[in-house]
Amino acid sequence: MTRMTVREALRAEGVPRPVEVRAWIRTRRDAKGFSFVELNDGSCLANLQVIVDAECPGYERIGDFTTGSAVRVAGELVESQGQGQSFEIKASELDLVGRAEESYPLQKKRHSLEYLREIAHLRPRSNLFGAVFRVRSRLAYAIHRYFQERDFLYVHTPVITSSDCEGAGELFRVTTLDPGAAPKTAAADVDYEQDFFARPTYLTVSGQLEAEIFALSHGRVYTFGPTFRAENSNTSRHASEFWMIEPEVAFCDLSGDMDLAEDFIKQLIADLLEHCAEDLALFGKFVDKGLHERLRFVLERPFQRLSYSEAVKLLQDSGKKFDFAPEYGANLQSEHERWLTEEHFRRPVTVHDYPQSIKPFYMRRNDDGQTVAAMDVLVPGIGEIIGGSQREERLDRLDAAMEAHGLDKEEYGWYRDLRRFGSAPHAGFGLGFERMLMFVTGVGNIRDVIPFARTPGNAAF
Ligand code: 4AD
Ligand code: MG
Repeated sequence: MTRMTVREALRAEGVPRPVEVRAWIRTRRDAKGFSFVELNDGSCLANLQVIVDAECPGYERIGDFTTGSAVRVAGELVESQGQGQSFEIKASELDLVGRAEESYPLQKKRHSLEYLREIAHLRPRSNLFGAVFRVRSRLAYAIHRYFQERDFLYVHTPVITSSDCEGAGELFRVTTLDPGAAPKTAAADVDYEQDFFARPTYLTVSGQLEAEIFALSHGRVYTFGPTFRAENSNTSRHASEFWMIEPEVAFCDLSGDMDLAEDFIKQLIADLLEHCAEDLALFGKFVDKGLHERLRFVLERPFQRLSYSEAVKLLQDSGKKFDFAPEYGANLQSEHERWLTEEHFRRPVTVHDYPQSIKPFYMRRNDDGQTVAAMDVLVPGIGEIIGGSQREERLDRLDAAMEAHGLDKEEYGWYRDLRRFGSAPHAGFGLGFERMLMFVTGVGNIRDVIPFARTPGNAAF
């Protein structure tokens, strides 16, 4: 007898054959003298149907086999006579491993996403979230595969750090000091020299600065890890804890960086279309009817590239009433980003060369004296999905930028050293993992593509 997952059973060869399956009951229907039990174990979207005859040992307790119960079934895997499934099991043994109480919340009716968020410990057993988390797992694999097949080194950058890469001050502090009784300096400030790391430390907002170290030793590298931002924006696209993928490439300029970003997104979509077809079909049916058309479209056409100043001009000339009037020198608002990608170009858009005044210190200054070699990739339905740049590799310009941003040169001595010892042009970007998942599933809220969302005011589980 072979133990199989539901997925294996549904694509098995050489039937009829004896099998054993352990899974959870989705539904049970009792007929005269036998019952149909639908099993799911998370291995795929489809359920496996089991036919339990009244003669089967265990059948006398069939009433205890409630929706949500964990069971073990042994029997013969046979081709199904019924519509809609390839194989089914004719049970010869049926064990109740763990009964679900009648109040099990995931009964057959459809629940709202808001309700399911409150039962985040049970929602992975629903069809929708089962699919979301299978796609999430595959996407992570596809990302590693993409880079590993192209000779990128995977670097584990630290989660606890003393630098604020983005300079936006959205840091979660890491400390073991008692907030009510912290030691003070003579000037009555908190004395972080007495803290665990003997200095102020934070959860990382980006692994980029450390990835740059490895780009200048190993050439092509990437990070893929959790990222934290204490940004008080309660939107459907912001989480306080999210995962980011950050490639960093030596001997690469902004144009190479934009090429990499575009190829990367396309290859990820191609991988999911091939390996997650069943789950994507569910999203296309119940979440976003236009999903497949959009994914194919993105796969097949080049992204639109335009400079920030061209983008601002287009927005200003659009005649569209925005809540925030587009203005040179201001950040593009999400309504602006979405107009560009959803209404005007109707495809992903890479905006490049932003004013240096609205970008972090590390971006490479352009010769115009005003802009930096930055780029953002915007996609329909979401807006910004990637942010990146060519990095300032010239020590004098970097020093000037650090001074302008009020950064301590000594603190960043190691970052300056990279420009003193064998500096080379290099570039990279960050892809928001959850935003990419929203894009490929059509799921509209970041809270529904991450197992346990952390957002302002919420850190349950
Ligand atoms: O544009 P960001 O802030 O860029 C950086 O952090 C660079 N250091 C990356 C690099 O060049 N290596 O963030 C990159 C991406 C965004 O485009 C977005 O997709 C995602 O990270 N992101 C968030 N995702 C979810 N919740 C948040 N609060 C996010 N903030 C950024
Ligand atoms: Mg950004």
